[in-house]
Amino acid sequence: MIIRSADFVQSAPTVDTCPTDGRPEFAFIGRSNVGKSSLINMLTDRKDLAKTSQTPGKTQLLNHFIINDEWYLVDMPGYGYAKTGKALRKSWEVFIEDYILNRKTLINLFVLIDSRHEALKNDLEFISWLGQKNIPFSIVYTKIDKMSSSKLNKNLIAYKKKLHLEWDILPPIFTTSSEAIFGRDELLNYIENILDNLKIDK
Ligand code: GTP
Ligand code: MG
Repeated sequence: MIIRSADFVQSAPTVDTCPTDGRPEFAFIGRSNVGKSSLINMLTDRKDLAKTSQTPGKTQLLNHFIINDEWYLVDMPGYGYAKTGKALRKSWEVFIEDYILNRKTLINLFVLIDSRHEALKNDLEFISWLGQKNIPFSIVYTKIDKMSSSKLNKNLIAYKKKLHLEWDILPPIFTTSSEAIFGRDELLNYIENILDNLKIDK
């Protein structure tokens, strides 16, 4: 897919305040600091489209970016940020859950996982919950430039093993690096295929 245009549209604090034009959207979720905003910049080839930060908790609202005037990329707040107070964490959870369960134009959720770490409890719980709720999702490993390919393979095999404890069939899995621009074509082609199928179904 060629990205002809990519523009920030708005930040929404609730599902009700998201865009209402019905265009399909793809959202990026995952722990704080996993690289959601960086991945959006890498995919769109726009350096500062989504705000990134070394400090976790940078993205706090649902940020919509319109791509090729046709579909949205959505940058979501991260979960599992330890320094967030309990009350705020709860309100984030409600907000994120509401969006995932009730946003009718959400076509696919990309769940980002830091490829350096072994499977973390809250990521696995979140993936389980998506399965229970029948939410279409894919897994995207991030920051693969930070590791040797042998260590990466080891981590991916271990992660798949964990997922297989619960799932016979795994969702699509992508490996990416926003730093080294790796995995861009695979992700964009995947999105393009889904969008093409939506058009055929119409
Ligand atoms: P929140 O909005 O706080 O939830 O974080 P986020 O998931 O949007 O992460 P963000 O894109 O802001 O990136 C967090 C940090 O990781 C930044 O310092 C990025 O430069 C760095 N980072 C992101 N992706 C990569 C990558 O592929 N490789 C490397 N080496 N660093 C990365
Ligand atoms: Mg962010």
